[in-house]
Amino acid sequence: MNIVSVGGGPAGLFFAILMKGRDPAHRIRIVERNRPGDTFGWGVVFSDETLGNIAAAEPVTYDSIARAFAHWTDIDIRYRGEILTSTGHGFSGLSRQKLLDILQARAASLGVELLFQTEVADLARWRDADLLLGADGVNSRVRELYAAHFLPTIDWRANRFTWLGTTRQFPAFTFIFKENEHGLWRVHAYRFDAVHSTFIVETSEATWRRAGLDTASEDETVAYCERLFAAELDGHPLLKNRSLWRSFPNVRNAHWSHGNIVLVGDAAHTAHFSIGSGTKLAMEDAIALADAVATHASVPDALAAYEAARRPVVESTQRAAQTSLAWFEETERYHGRLAPIQFAASLLTRSLRITHENLKQRDPAFIARLDRWFAAEAANRSGVNVPAEPVPPPMFTPFRLRDMLLGNRIVVSPMCMYSAEDGMPNDWHMVHLGSRAVGGAALVMTEMTDISAEGRITPGCAGMWRPEQARAWRRIVDFVHGNSPAKIGLQLAHAGRKGSTKLMWEGIDEPLDRGNWPLIAPSPLPYFARSQVPKAMDRADMDSVLRDFVRAATLADEAGFDIVELHFAHGYLLSTFITPLTNRREDEYGGSLENRMRFPLEVFDAVRAIWPRAKPMSVRISATDWVPGGFDGPDAVAVSRLLKAHGCDVVDVSAGQTVAEAEPRYGRLFQTPFADRIRHEADMPTMTVGNISTYADVNSILVAGRADLCVLARAHLYDPYWTHHAATEQGYVLPWPDPYSAMRTYQPRFS
Ligand SMILES: Cc1cc2nc3c(=O)[nH]c(=O)nc-3n(C[C@H](O)[C@H](O)[C@H](O)COP(=O)(O)OP(=O)(O)OC[C@H]3O[C@@H](n4cnc5c(N)ncnc54)[C@H](O)[C@@H]3O)c2cc1C
Ligand SMILES: Cc1cc2nc3c(=O)[nH]c(=O)nc-3n(C[C@H](O)[C@H](O)[C@H](O)COP(=O)(O)O)c2cc1C
Repeated sequence: MNIVSVGGGPAGLFFAILMKGRDPAHRIRIVERNRPGDTFGWGVVFSDETLGNIAAAEPVTYDSIARAFAHWTDIDIRYRGEILTSTGHGFSGLSRQKLLDILQARAASLGVELLFQTEVADLARWRDADLLLGADGVNSRVRELYAAHFLPTIDWRANRFTWLGTTRQFPAFTFIFKENEHGLWRVHAYRFDAVHSTFIVETSEATWRRAGLDTASEDETVAYCERLFAAELDGHPLLKNRSLWRSFPNVRNAHWSHGNIVLVGDAAHTAHFSIGSGTKLAMEDAIALADAVATHASVPDALAAYEAARRPVVESTQRAAQTSLAWFEETERYHGRLAPIQFAASLLTRSLRITHENLKQRDPAFIARLDRWFAAEAANRSGVNVPAEPVPPPMFTPFRLRDMLLGNRIVVSPMCMYSAEDGMPNDWHMVHLGSRAVGGAALVMTEMTDISAEGRITPGCAGMWRPEQARAWRRIVDFVHGNSPAKIGLQLAHAGRKGSTKLMWEGIDEPLDRGNWPLIAPSPLPYFARSQVPKAMDRADMDSVLRDFVRAATLADEAGFDIVELHFAHGYLLSTFITPLTNRREDEYGGSLENRMRFPLEVFDAVRAIWPRAKPMSVRISATDWVPGGFDGPDAVAVSRLLKAHGCDVVDVSAGQTVAEAEPRYGRLFQTPFADRIRHEADMPTMTVGNISTYADVNSILVAGRADLCVLARAHLYDPYWTHHAATEQGYVLPWPDPYSAMRTYQPRFS
């Protein structure tokens, strides 16, 4: 095969080595603009896992790398005068120059033709190749030449960074956070040979400009950073090597190949340096591409197989890198607010790749310290004694809202059952809620329960507008209180323009075929074009809805509920007031966020006025519409501040479902960043919901301070005993109810 690689970085060189190793008859040329000894930057870092992949694919290269790298297991976090150390992480640092030397030497020894100092402007000269690699890095010329086919997107991020070196040998992977008169600075530093460490300085654009570094020369940058980090550098100098200030580009391509041309490494995709994965991805691309070429007869088939194999892995790394990058863009949110140990937990778990459970295995002492701190905080805030020895897992610490004391941090999310008749809860609701209370959750929320018959989503929705309904709810509340330590909350709502629709399994949000009832909304906008057009509410409609909410809350108190949650989310009535996409009013209830919040807050105030002072209230919000120009993160913070000022105790942070054209970005814990932001910026307790299914994630969320309570919906449909099972897995004794006391000695085995 005749192969040409445009670019002689890690991706191009390693692919050439792998292909020559498989078949020396291949002709492989690497076209590289630089001279052999040229490189930018300092060291690169590999995890032990990546080194394992390289060892399996090319033992010779691995041996050379292994002899050259510096290995460490600790992460040091320097924060506000403290150094917090977490151990058990396996990483290796290597000079980028050394890596390129090793790869170049190995490639040359196998007969790869290395054409240095050769700039590729177009591909005319290389057209004879059977396979052409665009391995030309982040500013890929190959990608640019065929942009119409690859469809690249480049998202330039806000923070600025520069890649420096130093002779200070940091003993661990070191994160430094330091504030000066210009703002907050972050450093990512690690040793990569016997003499040097990489020292990446990162900050926000505003801080960078305030420091005057936007116009600084390389020498001025070095001088500024040496002054700022004099203590951490311990007398050592900073070293430059084309150490310009850059913004990080998130590179993605819709397609990675076109005919016999393929993108690899940074040309195809980037992943933020804070998870140190760029070189790893480049070399693993090379492994996957070499495998695909070896096992497919035609080049296009091989390239399709390469992309099919690699894209999911790369996109998963990019998701992790994105959450990590976001953490470093938002560090000001945490800095100074979080206690050092919690700051460290937030940093270590930022990308979701490392959980509380992983840390427990890697560094039990660190987690013991963290859990003790968390338990002491929980005891302080709840006024309940929490044992320090053995310290409970974070999810089994108490939490108080007014007089409602929760025994742990797990909540059963409100879930419509569509099983009521005329709004009456029945035996289905009793079994559904009762079994989940017995299953160990601290708080069980009813489904969205409607304040009037016209306020229902579907004919099967439960309601709270008649005393008989309150009596039926009372039976369920009494069962929960009588048979479990759980508390029970009622979620109250009016469906607005999403009302008069079919049961979930007959067509979600689809209008009824017959028996429709009239709808109301802030503006006469249907949910789907085919949906009923709601009437724009006048003052009389608002007063009537207000009265219905107050009646429902009064009945809820009579039924014995511990907490009431108002539904301001998911495109139901109060949500449509808040979202600009569904509220086009020109009176004092439309326009600014303050105006759009006016009616929802009138409802909140009216309910709060009659709801007993000792009992808490929560509000569920959609923190984003997932639509450009719609309601989004900063608005959610503003709404939460308003709610707090009106006496709301906790915000239940959901997202989306407000308009049909939304494009949500799902994934593990996909809504938790909104809860995290509100908790810190509105200084408000939060519940987080959305794709939470493991106790490891629950504990990570809690110790990192991303939310106070974790709300699980589908995980509880799958397993009503989720909390009990999580306790067993963690070796924590959560008492079973007396009729199940035989469980105390039972050893569960499922497979
Ligand atoms: C600040 C910073 C820190 C980083 N830290 C790490 C880390 O710790 N660990 C890690 O794994 N990764 C790290 N990376 C990322 C890493 O440097 C890249 O992801 C990796 O080098 C990608 O390899 P590549 O072969 O795809 O591209 P590159 O290494 O960029 O190689 C591309 C090559 O193509 C050549 N070239 C480009 N255009 C042309 C042309 N038109 N004609 C001829 N030649 C051309 C270039 O000269 C270059 O040699 C970091 C990146 C930055 C910016
Ligand atoms: C069957 C079902 C019914 C739901 N009904 C409601 C509801 O009544 N009120 C509400 O706020 N959210 C409702 N939701 C959304 C969930 O409360 C939760 O926010 C969502 O399912 C994401 O959590 P999960 O990933 O843990 O399932 C419902 C979800 C499901 C699966």
